[in-house]
Amino acid sequence: MDCDPGTVDFTHEVLPLIQSNCAMSGCHVGVNAPDGVRLTNYPQIIQHVKAGKPDQSHLYESIVSTGGHRMPPAPMSPLSQALKDLIRLWIAQGALETNCNNAGCDTLAQASWAQVSNVFNAQCVGCHQAAGASGNVRLDDYAEAVYAVNSRGLASTLHGTNGAPLMPPNGGTSACDVAIIERWIRTGTPQ
Ligand code: HEC
Repeated sequence: MDCDPGTVDFTHEVLPLIQSNCAMSGCHVGVNAPDGVRLTNYPQIIQHVKAGKPDQSHLYESIVSTGGHRMPPAPMSPLSQALKDLIRLWIAQGALETNCNNAGCDTLAQASWAQVSNVFNAQCVGCHQAAGASGNVRLDDYAEAVYAVNSRGLASTLHGTNGAPLMPPNGGTSACDVAIIERWIRTGTPQ
């Protein structure tokens, strides 16, 4: 569907964020998920959300909590303010299963680590950070990400080619995110 500008895109923005930061292995996935809270798809996620009311939504409360119940739990980092705001806005807009094919793909701006790290934070860092570096790859830090590009075949993981596993493992990321990362690599991984 075409979405109005400003509409949060559940399929390309919210779902990957939750899959990367909440539904990774050992957390909110599968039969052993804590308290049965599974967050792998829209029907499961929506059970922890009150449409239109972020402050009454368990999902939102848990990511902004400053107490021991914060999600993701320590030692993982809390979500960035931008990602908390994204979830808040999505719920405020009605927590719909939006799937926008016009989601602002900003591939004309100059490539920068700031832009690429937004993609990594939303799609990858849940599994690739200091507190839990799957495959010994970290994408929460500029130097580590450059190492992953130069020595760990990050470019191939975007398509699952050259024998590399497809990343994220649950089906890859959007064409727009791939374009942003590939342009950054092509232009020499600028900081
Ligand atoms: C749900 C968890 C998860 C997410 C999200 C995730 N990864 Fe991974 N990643 C893994 C695991 C597990 C491995 C190591 C196992 C393997 O090789 O399949 C891995 C391995 C890798 C490797 C090393 C590949 C190799 O051949 O050694 C790279 C590079 C990588 N990931 C990049 C990414 C990027 C880029 C993203 C986001 C676009 C991402 N990952 C998102 C779990 C994840």
